[in-house]
Amino acid sequence: MARDGFFTGLDIGTSSIKILVAEYINEEMNVIGVSNAKSAGVKDGIIVDIEAAATAIKKAIDQAEEKAGISIGQVNVGLPASLLQIEPTQGMIPVTNETKEITSTDVVNVVESAVTKSMNPDREVITFVPEEFIVDGFQGIRDPRGMMGTRLEMRGLLYTGPRTILHNLRKTVERAGLKLDNIVISPLAMTKSVLNEGEREFGATVIDMGGGQTTVASVKNQELQFTHIYQEGGEYVTKDISKVLRTSQATAEGLKVNYGEAYPELASSQESFQVDVIGEVEPVEVTERYLSEIISARVRHIFDQIKQNLERRHLLDLPGGIVIVGGGAILPGIVELAQEIFEVPVKLYVPNQIGIRNPAFAHVISLAEYAGNMTEVDQLAQGAVRGEIPQEQQVATVSFRSQPTTQSQTVQQPVQTNPTPVVSQAQTEASKALPDVDQEVATEEVQESRGFGKRVRGLLNSMFD
Ligand SMILES: Nc1ncnc2c1ncn2[C@@H]1O[C@H](COP(=O)(O)OP(=O)(O)OP(=O)(O)O)[C@@H](O)[C@H]1O
Ligand SMILES: [Mg+2]
Repeated sequence: MARDGFFTGLDIGTSSIKILVAEYINEEMNVIGVSNAKSAGVKDGIIVDIEAAATAIKKAIDQAEEKAGISIGQVNVGLPASLLQIEPTQGMIPVTNETKEITSTDVVNVVESAVTKSMNPDREVITFVPEEFIVDGFQGIRDPRGMMGTRLEMRGLLYTGPRTILHNLRKTVERAGLKLDNIVISPLAMTKSVLNEGEREFGATVIDMGGGQTTVASVKNQELQFTHIYQEGGEYVTKDISKVLRTSQATAEGLKVNYGEAYPELASSQESFQVDVIGEVEPVEVTERYLSEIISARVRHIFDQIKQNLERRHLLDLPGGIVIVGGGAILPGIVELAQEIFEVPVKLYVPNQIGIRNPAFAHVISLAEYAGNMTEVDQLAQGAVRGEIPQEQQVATVSFRSQPTTQSQTVQQPVQTNPTPVVSQAQTEASKALPDVDQEVATEEVQESRGFGKRVRGLLNSMFD
């Protein structure tokens, strides 16, 4: 159920920074402002220059504020999948208040008991997604508040990221004069937003073709099964055109956008255009078909790698097929080429809201949607991760200063699952760019507990490289 209010998504992309302000009224999302500004200080999806990225974000904020007619104070920013590790986590606390009625404070405390653990000093908790609560042994509870019990347990997935990268992200947002509402795990938000309920249940894959990278996320049984980042995107297509035709990158980008076609069979061998070639006095004639062959070679290379990875994990023939988004997917013929390579149903996702009917906006929309759809329990869990005290406990602390706070009564349950670092190949790539990023190797040790561990093991075995 969506919350009423304004939610702003911030997509810090390699090619462009996108901002979207959405207003939710009675479950209905209305886009009230959007902007798309040239990116700076971002390489392979990671901030490498805080000052440059913050300046670019400020420009995008100014544009979005002007369009939305409101001032933007806080944002929900996306974090790419390549930097993540996921581990199943559980916690337990006794319910200590006299009525035995479970409160928000108990929810926060049980999340804290799940999250508090000896973590690698290079890593930090990004988010915690509660899976279920267990009250006195009764499982599968989504929101235990108001229920009676003596023992509250919970299970969920803990997402951690490299401290340096998260620090840079926070610092950049702060430098841009903004408050960070939530760091949103991009593939989680994207698959929720782009796929429908049935596709998420039966299984489908989303391919986000950006400028500097292509991100793949497969979902089945409503859960992420696999995500991976390939460090190639639309900018590589432009560079290829520039190299092969010996023309500037600006000219190459123009050719791609104006005459580009991803599927050579659909491109004309008769239609041609003039290109300014370096070292030639006269412009050179190039056919649309030849340009298409240059483009399709790169896109084919990206799709071939994705196909291999999906096949290896038995995720290629999911009933929902493949859904393509991102600015790199705007090229005509992309669906035809993808269909030929993947041999499964493929569709292009174009957002339905006025003014943003462009696949490049799918990510930023998903960030605002994710924030708008967070439940109260999700928000309490996020607060606990950030060390915030819930409202009711703040009141109790002020009113009854001499009373011990509930927090001091928390029983810290030793964590029963082994941390299971899951590192993708792209993380290793990212680590090359940033030498201080953690480079643990994936292990499959997940201690099983009441079937949950088993389920998560299945998830982790097939997720990431
Ligand atoms: N009309 C168009 N035709 C072809 N390509 C396009 C078009 N518009 C944008 N692109 C390409 O889309 C790419 C940018 O896509 P997008 O905005 O999704 O990337 P990003 O989110 O900034 O980058 P990343 O996700 O890699 O960090 C660029 O390579 C650009 O050339
Ligand atoms: Mg992107």
